[in-house]
Amino acid sequence: MFWVVGIHAMGARPYGVSSPDERINLKVSLDGGRLYYQVDRDGKTILNPSRLGIKLQGAPDMTDGFSVVNVVTDTFAETWHPVWGEESSIDNRYNELRITLAQKKTAPGRRISVVFRVFDDGIGFRYEFPRQASLGDFVIADEITEFAFPATHTTWSLPVEGIRFYEGLFRELPVDSVGWASTPVTIRTAEGLHMALHEANLTDYAAMNVQSTPGSNTLRAALTPWSTGEKVRVTDVRVSPWRTLVIADNAGDMMLSRLMLNLNEPCRITDTSWIKPQRYIGIWWVYHMKRNTWHAGPEHGATTENTMRHMDFAAKNNFGGVLVEGWNPDWQSWNFDYRHPYDDFDIEAITRYGREKGVALIGHHETGGRVANYEAQMEDGFRLYRDNGMNYVKTGYVGDLLDDKERHSSQFGVRHYRKVIETAAKYNLAIDNHEPVIPTGLQRTYPNLMTQEGVRGQEWNAWNPDGGNPPEHTVTLPFTRGLAGPMDFTPVIFRFENEVMPQTRVNTTLAKQLALFVILYSPLQMASDMIENYESNPGPFSFVCDCPVDWDRTVYPEAEIGKYITTARKDKNSDSWYIGSATGAEARTAEIPLTFLDPGCTYRATIYRDAPEADYVTNPCPVIIEQRDVTADTVLSLPQGRSGGAAVKLSKI
Ligand code: NOJ
Repeated sequence: MFWVVGIHAMGARPYGVSSPDERINLKVSLDGGRLYYQVDRDGKTILNPSRLGIKLQGAPDMTDGFSVVNVVTDTFAETWHPVWGEESSIDNRYNELRITLAQKKTAPGRRISVVFRVFDDGIGFRYEFPRQASLGDFVIADEITEFAFPATHTTWSLPVEGIRFYEGLFRELPVDSVGWASTPVTIRTAEGLHMALHEANLTDYAAMNVQSTPGSNTLRAALTPWSTGEKVRVTDVRVSPWRTLVIADNAGDMMLSRLMLNLNEPCRITDTSWIKPQRYIGIWWVYHMKRNTWHAGPEHGATTENTMRHMDFAAKNNFGGVLVEGWNPDWQSWNFDYRHPYDDFDIEAITRYGREKGVALIGHHETGGRVANYEAQMEDGFRLYRDNGMNYVKTGYVGDLLDDKERHSSQFGVRHYRKVIETAAKYNLAIDNHEPVIPTGLQRTYPNLMTQEGVRGQEWNAWNPDGGNPPEHTVTLPFTRGLAGPMDFTPVIFRFENEVMPQTRVNTTLAKQLALFVILYSPLQMASDMIENYESNPGPFSFVCDCPVDWDRTVYPEAEIGKYITTARKDKNSDSWYIGSATGAEARTAEIPLTFLDPGCTYRATIYRDAPEADYVTNPCPVIIEQRDVTADTVLSLPQGRSGGAAVKLSKI
């Protein structure tokens, strides 16, 4: 259903659109020819009038002198089913307002539109630049989109400068001190409202960062530039990504918002049967612990024999994949060849062996950020994988700049990553993208984009000279980076001493490592330690061997940013629920009402929790494994040491 508001109806009055539940109202208005939008919820201001517009290079800006040509509203409702995810069905309901504008004096004949969608859980809007006689290809010099918060809310964000590939610690800052920050920016008001500012469907555009001004509560879009300083070269794709603001009553509801996915296009891959969520292990931590080398030689990790040994272990312990890095030349020069393996890596024999065992070989393409070299060989590399029956590849872009020139989050990077996703889909390959541009929900359209790094992951506990990730890091990520989509954080390290860098270590208890397998969502989820460390700890490891990575439903019984989180997820393929509960720097007892369980049913809870003496500094390993019967009326108490946690499996009896 849609209707057009006739031109005669338009003056300076605002045009409005509300969420389906009518709690959120968005208004668009012109003031002296400038375009503004504002948002309230339950009658309280969420955003003051916030300016919209685009500055162009070498052409009149789209910022002033606007008049309204046309306003169209529409309404939409669907339920869709992701190929994999944190739930098996997603409601997508919104009301839409499309406003078309002209600038009669500054750019006669030129028209652009802004489309607003208002959902029960927030808003999204984007610019549309239809091709027209007076608007062909053009260059965006700046996007002046504002988010004018009415008060100095608390925020969590990552700075753009000084952080590579989003691998930083989120900073808690008042909104006026954010500086140049990447999104998602998480926002908490004094009343406890939780919001997330981000973008959806980043296609052929630069990533949207934000910039604050001291003394002002307004954040402004600050796009990642090309090396030339241009922001976006607009050619075939004539729309911006969606600018999104999730608005929720509490942290749990913020994390449950699927607004970002809803603002992406439906799935474009017809046969998705080959896209399978997996637990995986790998020949990986052993490199970061410097016991093996990526390059060929006496300590080479990626040998046929070692890979088969890992496949045996995976098959025995119910893991579907083995990641092998260091399989291709040349890790000494970082001049990579994706067409041929090292001599001691027999890819045909290995994949044949894996097929017999039901274990997938997960390929690896480290590019070192050399995009041109990669694009020249990519299809050959993918063909080699396809010809060997492989369905997964981890890609990597270690290097300050792509091709020594462009930022990962620039339009250049965005174009390259998309090319990889689309090409990989043709070869039935699913991607685990390390050093990516920030995710924006593209997995709805391309579910072969299964997981991404873009997070300060476990590897920092191996080699960061300033120490391992602090206790609060992993209980901050679900509320921040996690809002952008799956994270290949690679949890489940069981050995806490660091042979390489003694001052650096995993700053959690062992039970918290188990909890992170549930909490840090990824449909390709790694148990990242060396297999010896699992063999010597079979009890705790059994939780991971059984824990699904594809879900029917997710709930958050407890959640406070940087302090603690309890995540409960129902398996997509059974009646079982799994809980991960973790605390930051403070010891605490989680009290978890099991109200999400089916009423009237009894479940056997298998609990893996910190022993009373467990503490991440002095004694991380002791885990108590116990069983008890519970129902939806039970409140489960799980005591946790400092940076501790608990993992629980609940199976219906
Ligand atoms: C950085 C990645 O995050 C890590 O997982 C990988 O082992 C190295 N690059 C080498 O590619």
